[in-house]
Amino acid sequence: MAGPFKHGGRIPSRRRRAPMPRPAARSPHICGPVDDEMTRVIGASLLGVNGVAVEVEVRLSSQLPRIDIVGLPEAAVRESAARVRAAIASIGQRFPDRRITVNLAPANLRKGDAGLDLPIAVGILAAAGALESERLQAFGLLGELALDGRLRPVRGALALTLAIRDAGARYVIVPAGNGPEAALTPGVQVLEAADLGGVLRHLIEEAPLPKAEVAALEPSNRCVPDIADVRGQERAKRALVVAAAGGHSIFLWGSPGSGKTMLAQRLPGFLPAMDFEEAVEVTRIHSAAGLLESAAPIAVNRPFRAPHHTTSRAGLLGGGNPPSPGEVSLAHRGVLFLDELAEFQRYTLEALRQVIEQHLVIIARAKTTCVFPAHFQLVAASNPCPCGWRGSGIRDCRCDDGATARYTSRISGPLLDRIDLHVSVAPVTWSQIDEPARGPTSAELRARVKDCRALQQSRNGAEGFRTNAEIPDEALDRLVGATADARRLLGAAVERMGLSARAARRLLRVARTVADLAEEEKTGPRAIAEALSYRATELGNSSK
Ligand SMILES: Nc1ncnc2c1ncn2[C@@H]1O[C@H](COP(=O)(O)OP(=O)(O)OP(=O)(O)O)[C@@H](O)[C@H]1O
Ligand SMILES: [Mg+2]
Repeated sequence: MAGPFKHGGRIPSRRRRAPMPRPAARSPHICGPVDDEMTRVIGASLLGVNGVAVEVEVRLSSQLPRIDIVGLPEAAVRESAARVRAAIASIGQRFPDRRITVNLAPANLRKGDAGLDLPIAVGILAAAGALESERLQAFGLLGELALDGRLRPVRGALALTLAIRDAGARYVIVPAGNGPEAALTPGVQVLEAADLGGVLRHLIEEAPLPKAEVAALEPSNRCVPDIADVRGQERAKRALVVAAAGGHSIFLWGSPGSGKTMLAQRLPGFLPAMDFEEAVEVTRIHSAAGLLESAAPIAVNRPFRAPHHTTSRAGLLGGGNPPSPGEVSLAHRGVLFLDELAEFQRYTLEALRQVIEQHLVIIARAKTTCVFPAHFQLVAASNPCPCGWRGSGIRDCRCDDGATARYTSRISGPLLDRIDLHVSVAPVTWSQIDEPARGPTSAELRARVKDCRALQQSRNGAEGFRTNAEIPDEALDRLVGATADARRLLGAAVERMGLSARAARRLLRVARTVADLAEEEKTGPRAIAEALSYRATELGNSSK
């Protein structure tokens, strides 16, 4: 079925093959308005987790028929020619029998997105006269084409739509599966299309495309096990609540089977839901990494990433060419759980130090530099020695001092210094395990954490950050509001325990959260004492 054209440049449905070589002048049976007709369409390409607007220029000229795609196309874009040709034929349009040059600008950026199929196809249709080129000025287009003209969703639709909006488009046409995600972009109208035919009919004003709707951002009922499953471990549970409330990092260490992994896995059950901005940030990263499913096109649950200890440095931080986000970025606005911390390669862990401070990863390649956000809450767990029983008071440790030192030395002092709460998790007794579940449930803790976050938001929100863990050094004195007694206690403890300036400041932030949980306006000695108790037991200091 031939598509309707708005003006005289109708593409004939059948034509005889032209003799070779082609005449330089325009022959009557060749579609398109004039020789050297050029159209411009806005598409976008992913660079890391950001989109970059790509101007797709299509020029038809009267030379031997072929298609050239220039402007650093990667394999997926070079192969676009075959998909576009088949898709155009499938909707009853003729593929122009002329030399087609497709230029993707900026030319110095590598483009590997099959999502450029749609702008290339529409650019060719417009250059061939199937629609008016001027109509395209307000539009940006995204979508991978199937051979039958259907549109397939693309990775990173949100980041790509943002880039297209910033390039000046007022409407963005995306594949139907990307609609709810792309619609998160403010300041642009997102339209959903199922196939190339639908896009063409919209552009020639024959049949409008539906507007994409933003999906609800309610967290799904993800099955996170309840904290009440963990018997005993009251101190560790309290520390987890403090960590959840203030967004602090936490290190759990203790003997095997004491419940460290159980505790960490239950943390997402009482973390607050993400706000709109956080959901957009997370969606952008997960979409670019291709992790969003069609059933859940927007990230609504706070990420919880638990990479195995054999994960490489590139897997943890991101890497590859083109660079893709690592676990630290996939955990952005959520939890990065490093279980068996001492089993990770030391050089992998050391790379984390800078990320913890800067909340981002910069990956430089010869031609590109990608910046990946990585603002996560670190939860780590480890045994104190290879056999795991050092200092347990239950079994004798079988490790000699050298083996223990080698084991714990994989977790460097500077890394531990950057972790706010250090909690020793003692083994539970049989009577504790045997007793019925007691203590707060995850739902009760979630309510407490939510109230505490609201308090922090009212104090810190105007300064541009959400949690106490984010209070910058320069605002610490003002926002923590430690009493004179509290400062004296902290000063004495810093001297006695030999804490670094960084550890002391982190301790003040934790104390602020303890005071917030108790709804105290000032940070008093009680809050400082509790925060100090989460620093008192350092890994490797325990005796046999
Ligand atoms: N406090 C606890 N309450 C209830 N069950 C527990 C507790 N601690 C451990 N268990 C039981 O032991 C199992 C192992 O616990 P978990 O994996 O959390 O221990 P761990 O401290 O992480 O051990 P490891 O140091 O070997 O990694 C749990 O699946 C659970 O069945
Ligand atoms: Mg464990």
